[in-house]
Amino acid sequence: MTHYFTDNWENVQNFQARPDDILIATYPKAGTTWVSQILDLLYFGQTCPERQKTIPVYERVPFLEIAIPSLDSGKDLADKLPTTPRLIKTHFPVQFVPKSFWEQNCRIVYVARNAKDNMVSYFHFDRMNGIEPEPGEWNNYFHRFLEGQMVFGSWYDHVNGWWKKKQTYSNIHYMFYEDMIEDTEREIDKLCSFLGLSRSAEEKKMISGGVQFDNMKKNEMANYSTAPVMDFKISPFMRKGKVGDWKNHFTVAQNEVFDEDYEKKMKDPTLQFRTEI
Ligand code: PPS
Repeated sequence: MTHYFTDNWENVQNFQARPDDILIATYPKAGTTWVSQILDLLYFGQTCPERQKTIPVYERVPFLEIAIPSLDSGKDLADKLPTTPRLIKTHFPVQFVPKSFWEQNCRIVYVARNAKDNMVSYFHFDRMNGIEPEPGEWNNYFHRFLEGQMVFGSWYDHVNGWWKKKQTYSNIHYMFYEDMIEDTEREIDKLCSFLGLSRSAEEKKMISGGVQFDNMKKNEMANYSTAPVMDFKISPFMRKGKVGDWKNHFTVAQNEVFDEDYEKKMKDPTLQFRTEI
């Protein structure tokens, strides 16, 4: 962790969740913004369409643990959310989630992305984001990712920790970035079932179209272009939005090292990722 995510620790841990809060939990760069935009549209697209046109996604769906000096903390933004339900984002590994979310039996949407693409996306994000540690040179970053030396820790622990939690806490919907790329409408249907929402086929189709990569990339209220700490000249937030971009970054040797290490760390056969579709 870095201080931007620990400075407000006690307040964040004491956050008072409400039973209808929805937590969107992810390892960084797994598809948080995409799912945030989808949920915001599902809940408020019809009742409050101005919202998506005037409020950036990082205010509609506050990032609970973030605390940047001189900006409202994520916890304060979440406390002040006027909506029901409140949509709240976290990158916490499962053991750091404030206990009130469990006590209130909140619904949680967890999004996971295959480690290779997740690593590449995180690398470019660390280059352009002023509050992330400098990523340094790619090969070094690659090894640090395998060792779990990343902000929010090990990808391997994160996806496995949440997967395990799902076995004992039924209000987790565990979904995959690759599935959303393959068939966004199908994944929106699954989200609706989990959340108990009935939305017309037409509405779901419209949402699915609106959140396709090219549309979200153009959408100033969803593409982070208004966020203060990011330098889009180095790399845009909406960078590629693809499955398989890792092939443009991994050398053959790195891929071999990765695959061998992956097998040792990912022992649970029920948790499977796709690195291409
Ligand atoms: S963050 O900073 O952790 O909240 O980032 P997060 O939103 O989780 O992940 C950013 C990556 O998701 C891609 N993205 C999308 N892909 C496909 N379709 C849509 N609509 C979409 N929206 C965001 C974004 O481009 C980042 O991935 P990369 O691979 O870097 O392009």
